[in-house]
Amino acid sequence: MQRQNLVFEKMRAPRSLLPLVITICYFVVGPHNCVAFPKRSSCYVQDGKADCRHLSLSEVPQDLPQDITSLDMSHNRLKEIHPVTLTRYPGLIHLNIGYNSISKVDPGLCRTLPLLQTLNMEHNQVFVLKEEDMSHCTNLTRLFMASNKIKLQGEPFSALQSLEVLDVSMNKLQSAKLSSQPQLPSLVNLSLAFNNIGTLKKDDFSFLNQSFLQFLNMSSVPLKTLEPGCFTPISSLRTLIMDGSSMDTLVISKLCSELSGSSIDVLFLRKMKLIKLTNTTFSGLQKTNLTFLDLSRNGMVEIEPGSFQWLSRLLTLLLTDNNIKLLTKDTFQGLKSLKKLQLTKALGSGHHTPVIGDFSFQPLSALESLILQRTGVRAITQYTFTGLTSLKELDMSWSSSLTSLRNITSKTFVSLTQSPLRKLNLTGTSIAQINPGCFSVLRNLTTLLLEFNFIKQNLTGKEFEGLGQVEEIYMSNNQQTVNLGSMSFVNVPKLRFLTLARSLRAEAVNLDPSPFRHLPNLTFLDLSNNNIANIRENMLEGLVNLKVLKLQHNNFARLWKSANLGGPVLFLKHTRRLTTLEMDNNGMDEIPVEALRGLSDLRQLSLANNLLNRLKDSVFDDLNSLQVLNLQKNLITAVRPEVFKTPLSNLRRLVLDKNPFDCTCESMLWFVTWLNDTNGTSVPGLRDQYMCNTPLGYFNHSILDFDGLSCKDMTPFQALYILSSTAVLMLLVTALLVRFQGWRIQFYWNILINRTLGFSDATVEEGREFEYDAYIIHSDKDSSWVERRMVPLENDQCRFCLDDRDAVPGTSQLQSIVENMRNSRKIVFVVTETLLNDALCSRFKAHHALHQVIEASRDSVVLVFLQDVHDYKLSQSLLLRRGMLRPCCILDWPVHKERVPAFHQKLLIALGMTNRLQE
Ligand SMILES: *[C@@H]1O[C@H](CO)[C@@H](O)[C@H](O)[C@H]1NC(C)=O
Ligand SMILES: *[C@@H]1O[C@H](CO)[C@@H](O)[C@H](O)[C@H]1NC(C)=O
Ligand SMILES: *[C@@H]1O[C@H](CO)[C@@H](O)[C@H](O)[C@H]1NC(C)=O
Ligand SMILES: *[C@@H]1O[C@H](CO)[C@@H](O)[C@H](O)[C@H]1NC(C)=O
Ligand SMILES: *[C@@H]1O[C@H](CO)[C@@H](O)[C@H](O)[C@H]1NC(C)=O
Ligand SMILES: *[C@@H]1O[C@H](CO)[C@@H](O)[C@H](O)[C@H]1NC(C)=O
Ligand SMILES: *[C@@H]1O[C@H](CO)[C@@H](O)[C@H](O)[C@H]1NC(C)=O
Repeated sequence: MQRQNLVFEKMRAPRSLLPLVITICYFVVGPHNCVAFPKRSSCYVQDGKADCRHLSLSEVPQDLPQDITSLDMSHNRLKEIHPVTLTRYPGLIHLNIGYNSISKVDPGLCRTLPLLQTLNMEHNQVFVLKEEDMSHCTNLTRLFMASNKIKLQGEPFSALQSLEVLDVSMNKLQSAKLSSQPQLPSLVNLSLAFNNIGTLKKDDFSFLNQSFLQFLNMSSVPLKTLEPGCFTPISSLRTLIMDGSSMDTLVISKLCSELSGSSIDVLFLRKMKLIKLTNTTFSGLQKTNLTFLDLSRNGMVEIEPGSFQWLSRLLTLLLTDNNIKLLTKDTFQGLKSLKKLQLTKALGSGHHTPVIGDFSFQPLSALESLILQRTGVRAITQYTFTGLTSLKELDMSWSSSLTSLRNITSKTFVSLTQSPLRKLNLTGTSIAQINPGCFSVLRNLTTLLLEFNFIKQNLTGKEFEGLGQVEEIYMSNNQQTVNLGSMSFVNVPKLRFLTLARSLRAEAVNLDPSPFRHLPNLTFLDLSNNNIANIRENMLEGLVNLKVLKLQHNNFARLWKSANLGGPVLFLKHTRRLTTLEMDNNGMDEIPVEALRGLSDLRQLSLANNLLNRLKDSVFDDLNSLQVLNLQKNLITAVRPEVFKTPLSNLRRLVLDKNPFDCTCESMLWFVTWLNDTNGTSVPGLRDQYMCNTPLGYFNHSILDFDGLSCKDMTPFQALYILSSTAVLMLLVTALLVRFQGWRIQFYWNILINRTLGFSDATVEEGREFEYDAYIIHSDKDSSWVERRMVPLENDQCRFCLDDRDAVPGTSQLQSIVENMRNSRKIVFVVTETLLNDALCSRFKAHHALHQVIEASRDSVVLVFLQDVHDYKLSQSLLLRRGMLRPCCILDWPVHKERVPAFHQKLLIALGMTNRLQE
């Protein structure tokens, strides 16, 4: 893939050809290799920095903000750089035009950009560098000209008074002499790497004799000759890198002698084919203050006794990746200040088994860290580490050939008795057994790493004897062959970290009392990948400080089932300060409501890859500190607020993908709304990993496609439904009420109306011109009814006119009737069949009444029906029809006794005198 990209970069395909190129690329190398094309088409500007890399530009873009301070145009197609094109950006401080095809530095560049500090022109085709090219670059502090073909003409760097970093590596330079005049007074860092410098002459660096060069890179320079005094002008040198230079041992010792008077502190001599160190190689460094020496990857086979005797101030020695055959008590002689010795893969491979002789490390009394990773050594003896009286860390990890560690006994580490060892790393060393008291000499040990071994035994507790200071034991990945006992950790009471992942037998922790009960300070316990099925409720009793508990990949399917014999095992009730709980991959399908009670500090909960389906309401309700929740790959169909409201309230990260979601309003609406409203929680894969399983219409659609609004649309319909059904019900009730109690309602209504409005037809004046309020027409048969029901209504202000009683004396009957009718404001017919058949009544009185009504054009007739009479008959006899009168003037005598007061009320209204009568 890398090669392909390179090819296309060189091709620098014009934009218009890009689709074609992609197509060809697609067919030639497959789709995945064609993705490295520039996705941007314009520069990316942020914080005053313009990034215009990889845009196939052949000109400086003129559309950038004028105040940019940094412009990166590397990896483009610039052939030259015209200062005019940069006048728009006078504030530029950093300019990168590396990886283009520029062949010269324009003299106007620094004049146009007076503030320029960094100029990167690496990987171009600059050929001649003349004095005037750089004459205005006085403010330049860093100049990168690596990988060009520079030929220096005159004194091109003479103006660079501020330059601190100069890189002219990979320019096929033949000499380190960049000038004959003293210059570059500020230079600190110079790289001459990958040039063809074969000789360092006495005055090659004299052009720097006024500067304080500290860092010189001469990697991969084929140095053969060094003239005496060649480093004298740069004696301030502190760091020298000579990696990859093919120098023989003699030249190296010459180099060291030349460095003698310098301030050299750090020396890299990697990959130099330094097969053998002699007792004089480093003699030149005796007077220096060298503290760091890297001799890695030299294929070194032999180190002569006393080779390091000159380096009494050395603090760090790296011998990584060599092939040393033998270490003896004289190998490290003289390294009395050494604090760190790195021997990773230093002794190894080859036909002969390397050997670490007895007392090899004895000279290293100051050594604090000894790294013996991946050593090919077979044996350590009871004197191997003798004399390491300052040793704090010993790392022998992945030294699988060390047979001495197969069966660790009380003799194995006896040579460390004098060492205040804190950390012992025995990871991957093929340990099969650790025996009682084997670590007992390591009284200061705090960290013991025993991971990736083959330990197969019962831990009785005696193995950790003497480890009273130990705080961390890592024992994961031991083939699930370790068995615990109730006393296993009795000797490590300060333990804070314990990992036993993939190490224990399935029944190892099913003990009473629990193996962990001696560990009150335990904060981290890893029991994952052990296939454990049975644990007891008191397993974690007393672990009040436990914060992290890892139980994933066990077999806890039955543990939390309500059907479990003796009920669910609520083993978390003792660990209220838990912050992280991992129980993924356990086959669990149930979480008891009380299982996670009180875990208010819990920040991470992971239950992925179980069979959890319907979570009980409020099961997570105590988890109000939760930040990460992982329920990936379960059988969860609904995300309901009853379960998830609390745990989701402060969440930073939710992983709930790959569940068979049921995309119905009931199951998903709340969740989808929450997702829409929340931006503080990251939900990775939300778009394509959260799929609906049901209903069929949404199957395999993202839950984000679920239309929450469709649920909300239901609301008005629901309201409408409720409203309409209520209306119907009320109507029904009203109808029934009116049917059976209507009269009562009307009665009270009338009272109400008349009380408030004082309603009356009759004006006061109208009342005055009449003698009677009403003339009552009735048949003789109904006189008794009139006597009983009407007459009692009379009082001072209401007088009825009755023919029998109020006939005008001395006139004829007819005359009297006419007279009285005229004197009555209203005429009341008491309608019965009898009245209609009564000739006098129905003919004369009715005619007269009608006449009077028409004459006075008044609504003065009131009909009181004592019987139901047909309208036809009514009009036949009385020449009246119900429709001719106002409804209030038609009254029915009620069958029910209790309605009589209402009838009276209506009657008085009909007579238009209610108010007066009532008061
Ligand atoms: C160097 O930069 C300063 C501002 O930092 C400016 O005033 C000065 O003119 C610059 N020098 C040159 C030679 O442009
Ligand atoms: C620096 O070297 C030059 C010759 O290149 C010499 O003339 C000058 O005296 C030297 N300066 C010092 C301080 O050594
Ligand atoms: C170097 O080793 C040789 C023998 O191999 C010995 O004669 C010589 O004295 C040693 N030199 C030093 C400085 O230890
Ligand atoms: C190592 O432990 C011993 C006793 O257990 C103690 O006296 C000594 O100070 C410890 N050393 C360090 C460096 O902690
Ligand atoms: C547990 O830690 C505390 C504080 O770090 C310490 O005081 C206490 O002695 C430790 N307990 C044990 C049994 O070591
Ligand atoms: C999502 O949120 C936006 C505003 O944040 C709102 O306009 C939109 O209606 C919401 N969509 C749903 C489905 O809730
Ligand atoms: C979403 O983020 C914006 C800006 O980051 C913030 O102002 C807003 O309050 C956030 N909204 C919610 C609901 O967290």
